[in-house]
Amino acid sequence: MDIIEIIENNRIQATKDVEISKQKLYEQYFTPSDIANYMSNLFSNFEKENISILDAGAGVGNLGAICSLKYLNSGKNSFVSLTSIEWDKNLLEYLKGNIQEIQNKYINFHASIYNEDFYFIAQKLLTEGISFDRIIINPPYSLISKTNNEQLEILKKLDVSTPNTYSNFIELCYRLLSDKGELVAIVPRSFCNGTRFTKFRKKMLKNVKIEFIHLFESRKEVFKEYGVFQEVVIIKLTKKKIKKTKICISDKLNDNCCEKFNFDQITFKNDPYSFIHIPSKTDDLEIVNKISKLSSSLNELGLSISTGKVVEYREEYLTEEDYIENARILYQRHVRSDEIDLSVYNPSKPFLKQNEITKKKMIPKGNYIIIKRMSYKENKKRINTGILKKEHFDRTHMTVENHLNYIHKDSCGLDENLIYGLNAYLNLEIVDKYVRRFSGHTQINASDICSLPMPNIEVLKKVGEKIMNKKNNDYSIEELFFNK
Ligand SMILES: C[S@@+](CC[C@H](N)C(=O)[O-])C[C@H]1O[C@@H](n2cnc3c(N)ncnc32)[C@H](O)[C@@H]1O
Repeated sequence: MDIIEIIENNRIQATKDVEISKQKLYEQYFTPSDIANYMSNLFSNFEKENISILDAGAGVGNLGAICSLKYLNSGKNSFVSLTSIEWDKNLLEYLKGNIQEIQNKYINFHASIYNEDFYFIAQKLLTEGISFDRIIINPPYSLISKTNNEQLEILKKLDVSTPNTYSNFIELCYRLLSDKGELVAIVPRSFCNGTRFTKFRKKMLKNVKIEFIHLFESRKEVFKEYGVFQEVVIIKLTKKKIKKTKICISDKLNDNCCEKFNFDQITFKNDPYSFIHIPSKTDDLEIVNKISKLSSSLNELGLSISTGKVVEYREEYLTEEDYIENARILYQRHVRSDEIDLSVYNPSKPFLKQNEITKKKMIPKGNYIIIKRMSYKENKKRINTGILKKEHFDRTHMTVENHLNYIHKDSCGLDENLIYGLNAYLNLEIVDKYVRRFSGHTQINASDICSLPMPNIEVLKKVGEKIMNKKNNDYSIEELFFNK
């Protein structure tokens, strides 16, 4: 049996031995050998005599072991040293077993195993100025609320404050890279967008370059034996100077579905949140060329997006009393295929009583764009909107339920032509494709709309007017925006 087969058998055995409850608690989802191989092969050759490798959150040590074998078999390095860090002592037997297999065959292989908390060791290594040429990780995923006090103290000292353990691991690891070092990690996609990760993304993009991203098409493919259904990516970060990022979108572990993109097609200068886009090769150049030429944003248009302030299950002032001073509530059910239909059957209470507390939750009569916060599989588009018009108001105010976002200007409505133009833009197929580049989930957050490049106000109004006057017959709406 070759060493990789032995390592894979060890992984399978460890998976059987770890109790399911503990597996979930400690996020012990071990990387199958085909993926570990693929990840290791993403590293470039290393021309120096000695190469140092780090495997943090090593589990059974499979990633570090397979990565070491790549360099040992290359014959280019006279000395390969591996550092594996795993805090669960129950996994040490497997980890040591894997390392021993390699040591039995290669005399130029040296291994150090730390049965400790990675945060603690990382702090020590950073203080001592120790770095690694290659780092390979499949870190634990858990919310920062699970972090213990000792860890929080270390993170504070090191100025690491990210929302998840996996992003903490990434940040600590890229800081441990040597000058031309490379880091390959298999992690959830969630760090690519969402405002919680903005600080993490900005810091990361300042310190390292994204050389490679592999997005798995199916959520179920990678850790299927463990029942993990998160969208997962393999990412390679480098300290080297590079010009492009290679992107692969496939369930297959090969190069067939890959394409190289310039950095300005992955992150956009005028995006306040520095979202990381994952473009697919079909249509992509056209999308980026068109959308990135738009120089405005919601903010620059002087507009804002807010989330509806009525949370149905905890709102005290819901009522069925149809008094003129109470505000009618706009619910998600009222937004139907681009239209607002207030007559649809709705079992929820229709009004919000007006008083000093609820006044702040109301919007005055006007024109607003309403956007659903969730899209569903049956929806063709991610952004599902409806125009709430002045005519929908049968009294001075309305209010919006929490499953909806709304676009407004200083808490009031927008001009009619602007509303029509903006709504048409948000509903373009090309905008839908653009949003899919950075968002892997069906949620649409206010920050997603803020990060979207927008046409300028004149264009939006002009297109809006054409739509209102039904004068766009000869052109597709997309052409109106892009062939001004
Ligand atoms: C998702 S598993 C991956 C294991 C292995 N790298 C692989 O790819 O199969 C993450 C591992 O990190 C370990 N771990 C979690 N937090 C840790 C910490 N703070 N320090 C060291 N190890 C940790 C867990 O016990 C678990 O074995």
